[in-house]
Amino acid sequence: MAISIKSAREIELMKEAGRILAIVHEEMEKALRPGMTTKDIDKLGEEVIRSYGCIPSFLNYNGYPASICVSVNDEVVHGIPSRKRIIQEGDIVSLDAGLIYKGYHSDAARTHAIGEVSQKAKDLIRITEECFFEGIKYAKEGNYLFDISAAIGNYATERGYGVVRDLCGHGIGMQLHEAPEVPNYEMNRRGPKLRSGMTLAIEPMINVGTWEVEWLDDDWTVVTRDGSLSSHYENTVLITEDEPILLTLSK
Ligand code: MF3
Ligand code: CO
Repeated sequence: MAISIKSAREIELMKEAGRILAIVHEEMEKALRPGMTTKDIDKLGEEVIRSYGCIPSFLNYNGYPASICVSVNDEVVHGIPSRKRIIQEGDIVSLDAGLIYKGYHSDAARTHAIGEVSQKAKDLIRITEECFFEGIKYAKEGNYLFDISAAIGNYATERGYGVVRDLCGHGIGMQLHEAPEVPNYEMNRRGPKLRSGMTLAIEPMINVGTWEVEWLDDDWTVVTRDGSLSSHYENTVLITEDEPILLTLSK
């Protein structure tokens, strides 16, 4: 599949999709506290998405049964919200959300510390965000896609972290997942040239231990193989001739 280049009108719609998703994340962050279940967060996220007239894009996507992916501690991504899973002080909780506004998708993830967490957990969350910001230094027309991938992956590996290889970022627009795939590790080729008007969901998934992951029997939840903590950070990014625009980040 070719990589879609968004028109000015499409970019306006994606900006609005992103702006609303940033609000969804702010509302979930404000509500997050020990004693809540992961299902409570999913419900809240879905309510906020619908209150803006948007559609939760993850719900029923390939059979995924919720609107928000809630992944706790050694869960990497795609954790399924549950009434039985209670969030505790000291946990780290990744929230991944996506919505559709007038036919256009936005996708973003954040990892939050619940109360006081270990220094190891704090460092992991910070490094994962730094990986993203290292990557987008190269997110500019004329560079190559895998410049971003290498920057993300090398930043993490140089600091002793494991970079998840089984899942990637992706193009985004009228579909949640469009071409191209956006790996979070160095490739032995440069990949497609970046052009103004491309929109990418860039999403490093970083482990304290090794890069290896496995799937739970629910066929969704991805966990670290060694049981180490994992963090996820994602924004929908618009490529321009100049600095990239982070559509899902307010301020
Ligand atoms: N950010 C994730 C992704 O890009 C969210 C997909 S979850 C799913 O793959 F449930 F929709 F698959
Ligand atoms: Co994504």
